[in-house]
Amino acid sequence: MLRVEEQQAPVEFSPELISKFDDIVSRYPEGKQKSALLPVLHLVQAEFGWLSAPAMDKVAAYLKLQDIEVYEVASFYSMYFLRPQGRYVLEVCRTGPCCLVGAEKIMDHIEQQLGVKEGDVTPDGLFSWRGVECLAACGYAPVLQIGPEYTFYENLTNESVDKLITDLKAKGNN
Ligand code: FES
Repeated sequence: MLRVEEQQAPVEFSPELISKFDDIVSRYPEGKQKSALLPVLHLVQAEFGWLSAPAMDKVAAYLKLQDIEVYEVASFYSMYFLRPQGRYVLEVCRTGPCCLVGAEKIMDHIEQQLGVKEGDVTPDGLFSWRGVECLAACGYAPVLQIGPEYTFYENLTNESVDKLITDLKAKGNN
């Protein structure tokens, strides 16, 4: 469960980040700055790792929107994280075709190997994991993708998942 102080920790946007926002907003007609919301949220998430309430409030202020307009967009799309995540987010497809060939067992295995429940972060800050809907690679099921780079791993087995986790641990935060 997310602690209140984590949700409320103030954030500051650097001049470099705001300059990137300005560049995106400049692509849209005057008064249509709301159109920049999705890419601006992606930039904020790339900077901070997730979208806290204070970060979303600052985005709302920057784009001259109501806070709720940002929350409703950020909470609709699954690629936005509303709580802290690990450096590597293992997203396992949990839709029918992947489940038919063992996706649920893969998720159980990941939970066991990482020692954290879905959505939680490992103590070293490296990993979190979650089930997601179809990743459009059904022919290679079971499948997972790893954010934030979104690399795909297909035809998963417990052994290939173990190797993946070992390789990522060796890579660390790089
Ligand atoms: Fe898993 Fe489509 S059902 S990728």
